[in-house]
Amino acid sequence: MTKHNIRKLWPAELGLYREHMLRLDQDARRLRFGRAPSDEFIETYADGVNDLKSLVFAYVDDGVVRAAAELRPLGSAPYRQAEAAFSVEQGYRDEGIGTELMARTIQAARNRAITRIYLNCLLENKKMRAIAKKFDAVLRIDHDEVFGELAPATPTCFSIWHEMIEAETGFVTAVLDLQKRLLRAA
Ligand SMILES: CC(C)(COP(=O)(O)OP(=O)(O)OC[C@H]1O[C@@H](n2cnc3c(N)ncnc32)[C@H](O)[C@@H]1OP(=O)(O)O)[C@@H](O)C(=O)NCCC(=O)NCCS
Repeated sequence: MTKHNIRKLWPAELGLYREHMLRLDQDARRLRFGRAPSDEFIETYADGVNDLKSLVFAYVDDGVVRAAAELRPLGSAPYRQAEAAFSVEQGYRDEGIGTELMARTIQAARNRAITRIYLNCLLENKKMRAIAKKFDAVLRIDHDEVFGELAPATPTCFSIWHEMIEAETGFVTAVLDLQKRLLRAA
């Protein structure tokens, strides 16, 4: 049972992901990308997420994406490795959202037979390291960076069923979020 309203974003909703990324302040951008990219870079990056076949999970508050996790497959199909990255907006941190996003990401990777998830963060990023450790990631420090590796379990009927139930709930909330956006726009 999750505490926050976290769901998969549909490709048509990636504008919400883009808006979330653009709201990240300079420090969050630096922690997320290893440097603080410009708005132009972020726009191009977020618009290209579909092409990269990434899965994006988001914490949506009143129709607005306030936190997200991206699971990006690496190499070519059939994908067995992926990279994960996280972002939670100021004012929504330290409430367990990053941890829940990590759990959802690992579950999704597991159900897609991905056997390795790679994480990369700056050494100073104690929160990200704390989250990675909760999920038994193997962490390797190299200068001012930390490279993490996670090995999701093999999928089971239960893990697939669990994701399916969450996807159904996510679909309903996506429809409600769409209605809110349409009402606001009207
Ligand atoms: C890193 C980030 C995703 C964490 O999200 P979050 O929602 O605040 O994380 P959570 O609340 O789930 O967990 C944070 C954990 O860090 C721990 N923590 C907080 N400050 C800490 C510190 N100074 N030292 C060690 N651990 C710390 C918290 O206690 C918590 O662990 P707990 O649940 O066991 O108590 C968020 O801060 C963020 O978006 N930062 C900017 C972008 C970024 O750093 N991305 C990661 C690189 S990809």
